[in-house]
Amino acid sequence: MRLKKLSILNFKNITEGEVVPCEGINCIVGSNGAGKTNVVDAIHYLSMSKSSLAMTDGQSVRHGEEFFMLSGDYATDTDRAVAVTCAFGRGKGKTLKFCGKEYERLADHIGAVPVVMVSPADGALVSDSADERRRWLNAFISQLDHPYLDNTMRYNRVLAERNTLLKQGEYMVPELLDVLDERLADLGEKVSATRKEVVGRLAPLVEKFYATIADDHEPVELLYRSDLCDRPFVEVLRGARQKDLVCGFTNVGVHRDDVVMKIGGYPLRKYGSQGQQKSFLLALKLAQYTLLAERLGEKPLLLLDDLFDKLDEQRLSRLMELTAGGDFGQIFITDCNRERLISVLKNNNLPFRLWDVAEGEITPAE
Ligand SMILES: Nc1ncnc2c1ncn2[C@@H]1O[C@H](COP(=O)(O)OP(=O)(O)OP(=O)(O)O)[C@@H](O)[C@H]1O
Ligand SMILES: [Mg+2]
Repeated sequence: MRLKKLSILNFKNITEGEVVPCEGINCIVGSNGAGKTNVVDAIHYLSMSKSSLAMTDGQSVRHGEEFFMLSGDYATDTDRAVAVTCAFGRGKGKTLKFCGKEYERLADHIGAVPVVMVSPADGALVSDSADERRRWLNAFISQLDHPYLDNTMRYNRVLAERNTLLKQGEYMVPELLDVLDERLADLGEKVSATRKEVVGRLAPLVEKFYATIADDHEPVELLYRSDLCDRPFVEVLRGARQKDLVCGFTNVGVHRDDVVMKIGGYPLRKYGSQGQQKSFLLALKLAQYTLLAERLGEKPLLLLDDLFDKLDEQRLSRLMELTAGGDFGQIFITDCNRERLISVLKNNNLPFRLWDVAEGEITPAE
């Protein structure tokens, strides 16, 4: 998938902007707070129908304005033209259109214009709770498997029902709990099977990319951890029922799943240096990219926000070599150091197009 033209109106600090990217590497440079991340976030919005940051639609409307509007003209890898628009108005809600046709459900769009974003905010995947990793896994798998998204949404609804029931104490009807257990187990097993399969496919790719980027002998591992790994979910639920009744919520299930990251056999969070963590996250995202490209038959857009963040020049050069190797399609890079970025690209003989961003104004470089 290639973005041919991006138009932005009233999105965060960008009043109006247009970007006509090249097929290869596109660079967006500018000082801190200029609006670089906002440009790539606009691209993210058009793919995922939401911000990559923890920002609501309302917060993404430029201060003092009533709406934002984003549009992207794309070409698929088989050269089919595709247009996506995403508009949000305060008090009016959000509309997403694909080739002029409005979606009934925003979720139906996920995966149509695949995207992988690498950003400084990814650090939360290593440092924060399992919630963060499940959110990432869900967003990623949703792009390649629509039933998965439906199953996780249905699972969450049944889980909420079950938790409400557990809180009823002595008024609780046990037969109702049995019914909910069956439904939860059925959905949970589907979700778990997909997660297990996807993480299993990602793991060797992460190892491979990490070894290339880091040129490091420390082996890395990615593992799926779940309550459901070795017993039927219904049994696991029955086993935890007493505890659930005391607590008033469901203690076991795929809502407790985690993805474990290790380096040299130890937890990455505790034992990985910042650069190693960043390299791991890059490897994870490139693995995600590879799997999406393979399954969808369409290369995702690759957004590298704040590229130099915690990476030394050698790792960066290896990353650039890797991404220019032909397996990755169109790339968007942001950085606050114009000269540094240009010099890395030139040293690696990589052609690119560049824009300067200042106070939300996007200008193509001469
Ligand atoms: N809704 C909004 N309306 C107007 N301005 C906004 C809105 N949301 C965010 N901003 C502004 O956007 C700017 C941040 O833009 P962005 O995050 O893209 O900067 P950046 O160029 O990526 O900076 P850095 O190099 O620090 O990452 C801030 O000045 C912020 O105040
Ligand atoms: Mg930024």
